[in-house]
Amino acid sequence: MSDEIKRHLLSLLEPCGQTHLLHFWDSLIAAEKERLATQIQAVDWPKVTAWAKKLLDPAASEAAGIPFDRLVPAPYQPLHPETPKQEEFHKASIARGLEMLRTGKVAAFTVAGGQGTRLGFSAPKGTFPLTPLRHKSLFQIFAEGLLRLQEKYGTTIPWYIMTSHVTDAATREFFQTHGYFGLNPANVRFFAQANFPAFGLDGKALLESPSSLVLSPNGHGGSFAALKDSGALDDMEARGITTLTYWQVDNPLTIECDPLFIGMHDLSGSDMSSRALIKRDPKEKLGHFCMLDGHLTIVEYSDMPDSLLYQQEADGRLRYRAGSPAIHVLSTAFIRRMTGADSASLQPHRANKKVPHITLDGAQVTPEAPNAIKLELFIFDALPFARNPLVLEGDRAEQFAPVKNKEGNDSPESSRDALLHRTQRWCQLAGIPFPQKADGSPDAIVELSPRSFVDVEDLAAAKDRLPPITAGAQLYLE
Ligand code: UTP
Repeated sequence: MSDEIKRHLLSLLEPCGQTHLLHFWDSLIAAEKERLATQIQAVDWPKVTAWAKKLLDPAASEAAGIPFDRLVPAPYQPLHPETPKQEEFHKASIARGLEMLRTGKVAAFTVAGGQGTRLGFSAPKGTFPLTPLRHKSLFQIFAEGLLRLQEKYGTTIPWYIMTSHVTDAATREFFQTHGYFGLNPANVRFFAQANFPAFGLDGKALLESPSSLVLSPNGHGGSFAALKDSGALDDMEARGITTLTYWQVDNPLTIECDPLFIGMHDLSGSDMSSRALIKRDPKEKLGHFCMLDGHLTIVEYSDMPDSLLYQQEADGRLRYRAGSPAIHVLSTAFIRRMTGADSASLQPHRANKKVPHITLDGAQVTPEAPNAIKLELFIFDALPFARNPLVLEGDRAEQFAPVKNKEGNDSPESSRDALLHRTQRWCQLAGIPFPQKADGSPDAIVELSPRSFVDVEDLAAAKDRLPPITAGAQLYLE
């Protein structure tokens, strides 16, 4: 039996030059053989090794494939309407978005399969305790927000959460331990994305141990296939969901269901829509919304030459100023199309990594410098395939403060600070006095419960029952 399996595995690996992965086979016990066989069979070797070979070719850097002379900035809808026509479009979009939410056409979709290496937190990033007073996790912030939105719109908003082999078990357990934060478990669905093997710089896939490959989640672009393969897409269609609001687990400021954005997506007949933030400076690390031969596309900041990054309009604004915070709206029909047998497939990107592994003589390698590549699919690479893709300007202070790094920019501290500033602004707009320091910054730590407040309107409605906020106070409002 074992010989038969080995022959089968060899037939998969041989044409792709990867038979070294069976080097230890004969010394493995049955359970180890089974594990290795399962891992090997889950990989589409011809496709993945061809990708690795291409990405390892020194002549083929990703930027080298981009015809910069044909690139132009992508148009976007302004956040605040500038003409009567745009004003009308905004109004109609909000009405449409509200109708879609109320009639149960919208689901939430969060990608939470990443390894979160930069944050250096050993559990899944969604479980990171972020809020200043109650130490609510990112998952709890989103769950409570969804509870409030369901109540507000008198609807059900199913929540689909993509995990990976790295985060799946701990994520499910976290929700169970916390009673799903009050959500109905029937409306929360977890599904794991697939993995790609890591490759050494010689194009050979790496072994983590004699019976295991080095595997890593295949990027947020892996969500299309995962939605389909897990049955989540079928489930959405059976529920009558047409539209997904997509966010990444590390952005606690995200507006989970924005009627304007959802409605504009729908009225535009768009397959996939994106929020854009105006870049703070040319070197800010956001992907750029561009048009290439009539198709919307995102060009990564690292691929853009300085000559384009620094280009300015006559009025001094950056020409390539629309950056991507990875906030999208997707149509389920588009996901179906992207995962159909004859659909165009996403191409992976290369990440240079320090990858511990074993050699064929069994020695452990713990590299000091990048020694391998990991392949990752990006969800935004679907944009060129989308019909009528829409880009809508967003408001950074209102909707984007990701938790990426341990400290400094995009850290828990900066994200918490952005939350507090947003709370201060919401209070002021709702007519609730908020103590401030001489420089205008908040002079109290106030945490809003997303279960009660998802916008200024919610706060304004509760104004008369809330305690006053005094200077230096630490106050949780619910
Ligand atoms: P990042 O690219 O920032 O990666 O993911 P990360 O894993 O969170 O952090 P680093 O780079 O290891 O420090 C952006 C979003 O995409 C999700 C992440 O969970 C996060 O919400 N993601 C990323 C996946 O769901 N799967 C992946 O394979 C990669």
